[in-house]
Amino acid sequence: DESLARDVDAALRSIPDFPEPGVVFKDFTPVLLDPALRTRVVRDVVRRHRGGVDVVVGIEARGFIIGAVVAHELEVGFALVRKEGKLPGATHSVSYDLEYGSATVEVHEDAIRPAQRVLVVDDVLATGGTAAATCDLVERCGGSVVGVEVVLELGFLDGRSRLGDYPVTALLTD
Ligand code: PRP
Ligand code: HPA
Repeated sequence: DESLARDVDAALRSIPDFPEPGVVFKDFTPVLLDPALRTRVVRDVVRRHRGGVDVVVGIEARGFIIGAVVAHELEVGFALVRKEGKLPGATHSVSYDLEYGSATVEVHEDAIRPAQRVLVVDDVLATGGTAAATCDLVERCGGSVVGVEVVLELGFLDGRSRLGDYPVTALLTD
């Protein structure tokens, strides 16, 4: 929906030099403050996946917000992918490289059951490291990724190439 992409683009705020000099950070919080726009974003995702998903996975932290609402609308479970050390139960853990150093994400082992169809939701796809690690976690649980949905894809970072054959849908590409 082109008019939705245009309206989201207009709502996103660009913040220069965050979190470090030279980076222009796209701030998605104004979309959450606008109830009509937020609803349209959620409905756009839901429309593509109704009947085809058993569990929605949200990626900490902003993926929790959209992901949880999508799970509610689809009437399916919601699983959390968190940064390491936050989940209390037994977890699968995947580490991935950042520009400097590495990061680790985790999921409860029993959050996704073998053969379940899983939709991964986040706000932004940047280098793709977080989303790729999340898809890896889903597969370690035995689940199958039916889609990766993001509001904004930073196309110049080519995160999509790290996601292989997983179907990635971005409402908007920058
Ligand atoms: C952001 C964003 C994605 C990830 C994208 O989260 O919400 O989860 O980075 O980056 P990548 O494609 O290069 O992996 P952030 O690490 O800022 O965490 P937060 O939502 O907890 O602040
Ligand atoms: N906005 C939000 N999250 C992000 C960004 C951004 O510009 N880059 C990497 N993660």
